[in-house]
Amino acid sequence: MVGVSGASGTPYAAAVLRGLLAAGLPVDLVLSRAARLTLLDETGIAWHDVAWQQPLERWLSAPLGEPVPDAAATSPPARPAQPVVPAPPVLPASPAEPAEPAEPAEPAEPAEPAEPATLAAAVETLVTVHASGNLAAPTSSGSYRTHGMIVVPASTACLAGIALGLSKDLLQRSADVTLKEGRRLVVVPREMPYTGATLRHMLTLHDAGAVVAPASPGFYAGARTAADLVDFVAGRVLDAAGVDHALFRRWTGELGHARRPDQAARRTG
Ligand SMILES: Cc1cc2nc3c(=O)[nH]c(=O)nc-3n(C[C@H](O)[C@H](O)[C@H](O)COP(=O)(O)O)c2cc1C
Repeated sequence: MVGVSGASGTPYAAAVLRGLLAAGLPVDLVLSRAARLTLLDETGIAWHDVAWQQPLERWLSAPLGEPVPDAAATSPPARPAQPVVPAPPVLPASPAEPAEPAEPAEPAEPAEPAEPATLAAAVETLVTVHASGNLAAPTSSGSYRTHGMIVVPASTACLAGIALGLSKDLLQRSADVTLKEGRRLVVVPREMPYTGATLRHMLTLHDAGAVVAPASPGFYAGARTAADLVDFVAGRVLDAAGVDHALFRRWTGELGHARRPDQAARRTG
C-alpha cells in the first residue's frame, strides 16, 4: 500500500512507485486531497481517482525538472512504451526456512530474454487506486492482506493524524490499520524545520513500530543529478520496506569510491 499526502515531494512518491512496480509488486494507492494540489503544483498533472491510469503513467514517466507533456501528447499511439525493469522482490515477512540441500542441477538452457514489461502494462496490472474519501476501501480493514504501507511524502498533518490515530481519510485509516496489524509502516516526512509537535509525532510513530525515514538525501552514493538524489531517498525507503532495488550505488567502505571515473556512469545495487 502506498499513501501520498500533501507534502512537497511528488518525485519521491513517483520513484518509490516505480521501484515497487519494477519489483513486480501489486500496489494499492491513495492520494490525499492535498496531494492533488502538490501533484498539480509540482508536475502540472491533474489527478483523477476514477480515470487515474493516464495521470499515473504521466506522473511516473515525468522527467524531473522538465515540463510534463500534456495528456494529448501522451495518449497511447503517440507515447513510446516506458520500460519497467523487473527486479526480484525480497524480504518475505517472516524469516526464510533453512534451504533444503539442492539436487545437482542439469545444465540450463540459455534463458529466453523476457518480453520487457512496460510502464503502462505494470500500471494496468499491478496498481489499484482508491479515493481518499472511500473509507470502505479494502485497505480500511485489517482483514485485507497487505505487506505493509509506505507514506511518501508524509505531511506534518498526516504524521499527526497517524500518530494520534485520527483516521480522517483512507490514507490515515490504512496507516492505522497497518500499525494495528503489526505490519511494516514506513513514513517519509518532508518538512523543515520541524516543530516540537512534529518531532513528538515522529517519536510516537517510531515507538509504535513505524519506520520514520525523512526525505533526507545522502551524497555518498555519487549523485550527479537531482534525479539521483530522489532515487537515493526512494531507494532507502524501499530498503526500509524490504523491497529490492538498484536505485543507487551502495556504500562499499571505500572513501571516494562513488566519485571514481569508472563508477561515474554506473548505478548498481
Ligand atoms: C504546494 C504545497 C506544498 C506543501 N508542502 C508541504 C510540505 O512540504 N510539508 C508539509 O508538511 N506540508 C506541506 N503542505 C501543506 C499540506 O498540504 C497541508 O498541511 C495539508 O493539510 C496536508 O493534508 P494531508 O496530510 O491530508 O495530505 C503543502 C501544501 C501545498 C499546497
